[in-house]
Amino acid sequence: MLAAYFDCPGGPENLYMKEVMKPNPGEGEVLVKVFASALNRGDLLQRTGNYPPPKGASDILGLEAAGSVAELGPGCSGRWRIGDAVMALLPGGGQAQYVTVPEGLLMPIPKDMTFIQAAAIPEAWLTAFQLLHFVGKVQEGERVLIHAGASGVGMAAIQLVRLAKAIPIVTAGTQEKLEATAKAGAAAGFNYKNEDFSEKVLEFTQGSGVDIILDCVGASYWEKNLNCLSTDGRWIIYGLLSGGEVHGDLLARLVSKRASIHASLLRTRDKEASSVFLQYKERLVRAFTEEVLPHFSEGASPRLQPLVDSVHPLHAIAEAHRAMEENKNIGKIVIEIPV
Ligand SMILES: NC(=O)c1ccc[n+]([C@@H]2O[C@H](COP(=O)([O-])OP(=O)(O)OC[C@H]3O[C@@H](n4cnc5c(N)ncnc54)[C@H](OP(=O)(O)O)[C@@H]3O)[C@@H](O)[C@H]2O)c1
Repeated sequence: MLAAYFDCPGGPENLYMKEVMKPNPGEGEVLVKVFASALNRGDLLQRTGNYPPPKGASDILGLEAAGSVAELGPGCSGRWRIGDAVMALLPGGGQAQYVTVPEGLLMPIPKDMTFIQAAAIPEAWLTAFQLLHFVGKVQEGERVLIHAGASGVGMAAIQLVRLAKAIPIVTAGTQEKLEATAKAGAAAGFNYKNEDFSEKVLEFTQGSGVDIILDCVGASYWEKNLNCLSTDGRWIIYGLLSGGEVHGDLLARLVSKRASIHASLLRTRDKEASSVFLQYKERLVRAFTEEVLPHFSEGASPRLQPLVDSVHPLHAIAEAHRAMEENKNIGKIVIEIPV
C-alpha cells in the first residue's frame, strides 16, 4: 500500500509516498481502507524529529483517518461490519491506504457527510471535547478564551463551547481568521498581533476575566493569560507553539488568583484505564459519539460543522505541510488518499 513517509527528520521536501506493507488487524482491531486523513501540528513536529510516535504506534504519519471497514480482526464484537463508513483518532498511520484501529476507537461517519469532511473531525474535535469536558469541566455560562481560534482545534472548540451553552472568546493573527471564528460562533475575537488580548478580554468581560483558557501557545502568552484569567480560573495548556520556557513570577500570580494549570496530551493516552475500566480514549470516543456526533446531522440544533480549509492529494503532502507551517489554514487541511 502507499503511505506518507520520510527517511530523515527535516523539512517538507523530505516527504514522499512510499510503498509499504499493508497492516493486518490484530485481536479486537479493524482494518480500515482510508479515503481521507488530515494534517495536524503533531505531523509537522514528527517530521522534524521532535515528536516521535508513542511506543508500539505506526511510524507512518497521520493522526486521524476516514474510510470504510475492510476487514475484522479476531475477537471483534460484531459492532462493525465490512463496508461501514468510519472515522478514527490514531496514534499514527492514518496517511496510508490502510490502517488498523482498535474497534472501540472507531466512530460512525454521520449520515450525508463526505470522507473529506469526516477526516477533519477526529483529532481536532476529540482534542477540543476532551479539553473542555474531561479536563476543564466547562459549565453553562462560563467564558472560555480559545487561543489560535482559527486552528483546526480552535474552530472545533468554538462550536463545542456553544454546544455547552458557554461563551467562546478567541485570539487569532489576522482579520480574516477573526471573521471565520465569528462565523463559527465566537462571541468576541482579538488580534494578538496588534492589540493586548488580555486588556480586550477584561473589557469584554467587564473586568471579571475568563473561567477557562484553552492555550496551545504557551510561553509568550503566560502573563497576558494570568491578567485575564478569573479568580479560580482553569488554564489548560495543550500546545507550546511559542515555546515552553517562562521567566517571571508565575507561581505568585497563580496563587493570587487561586488559579489552576492543567496540561494535556492526547496522543500518549493509549493504555490508560479509567476508574470504570474503559481505556481513556475509548471513554472519550464513546462520550463524543453519544453527546456530539448527533449534532453534525441535518436538522440538529445547534448544527456542528467540520471546517475544511483545503484538500491536498497524498502525493502533494509536502505542500500541505508548508501551508500549515506558514499558518495559512483556517480549520483543517485534509489529505486525500489514492484509491
Ligand atoms: N495536547 C494535545 O493532545 C493536542 C492535540 C491536538 C493538537 N494539539 C496542539 O493544538 C495546537 C493547534 O493544532 P492544530 O493542528 O489545530 O493547528 P493549526 O490548524 O495548524 O493552527 C495553529 C495556529 O496557531 C497560530 N500560531 C502559530 N504559532 C503561533 C505563535 N507563536 N503564537 C500565537 N499563535 C500561533 C497560527 O494562527 P494565527 O495566524 O492566528 O497566529 C496557526 O495557524 C497545536 O499546538 C497542536 O500541537 C495538541
